[in-house]
Amino acid sequence: MNNHFLDKNNIPKHVAIIMDGNGRGAKQKGEMRIFGHTNGVESVRESLTAAAEIGVKYLTLYAFSTENWNRPKEEVAALMDLLVKAIYDEVEELNEKGVRLETIGNTSILPVSCREALTKAKERTKNNDKITLILALSYSSRWEIAQAVKTMAEESISGKLDVETINEDLISSYLSTSNFPDPELLIRTSGENRVSNFLMWQLAYTELYFTETLWPDFKKEHFFKAIKDYQDRERRFGKTSEQIVNE
Ligand code: IPE
Ligand code: IPE
Ligand code: MG
Repeated sequence: MNNHFLDKNNIPKHVAIIMDGNGRGAKQKGEMRIFGHTNGVESVRESLTAAAEIGVKYLTLYAFSTENWNRPKEEVAALMDLLVKAIYDEVEELNEKGVRLETIGNTSILPVSCREALTKAKERTKNNDKITLILALSYSSRWEIAQAVKTMAEESISGKLDVETINEDLISSYLSTSNFPDPELLIRTSGENRVSNFLMWQLAYTELYFTETLWPDFKKEHFFKAIKDYQDRERRFGKTSEQIVNE
């Protein structure tokens, strides 16, 4: 699949994806839900390759939400095992391709095997700069905002933070995404039109793209199609269309 139809001067720097529909993908094929998750790993590879190919600098993937801990414990355990396996299987290739791995979320509560795999992979890839792959793990936006508020309150009490300096940029700097720009584009697969507690602060002016395609079926061509859709939009940030055209 080529990407020649894309405008190379209008590539989003940061794309975020809610990878949804693994369970339904498996069900369609008469398989167990975990097969859907396993098949989803290939779609991660496709989107990461596609993103790197066109010059996207940050790709954030919602891999496991705070609320996903409430799933049946067998599924949670299988997802954690899959994560560990995928990281060990892929880390060398990621490194060769110039991918830097990062995480956001409450990763301290992940099983020790996951934490170990993530720490090693992050360390191994930390000097790469082709693209940053950010895995959102045990992540939710409300958790992240609550954490930020707590830290700011503590720092205010101890005198480290002057309340007068609190503004939007300062709040952003207390979030787990502080080192990354806000995404220009959010993709959600599987026909669900909701945000499900993902990057709610960061998505303020993000373009939202919803597709019926299930995550295990989402390939490079689907990724490029989403970028094309993004490129055909006019981002106004509260201004008028005339202002934007004359800028
Ligand atoms: C997304 O697929 C993967 C995770 C949430 C971990 P789902 O597992 O939510 O698949 P559906 O929505 O049940 O089809
Ligand atoms: C969102 O998908 C979380 C991830 C993709 C990791 P869910 O399948 O958990 O979302 P809801 O429950 O349908 O909103
Ligand atoms: Mg789902």
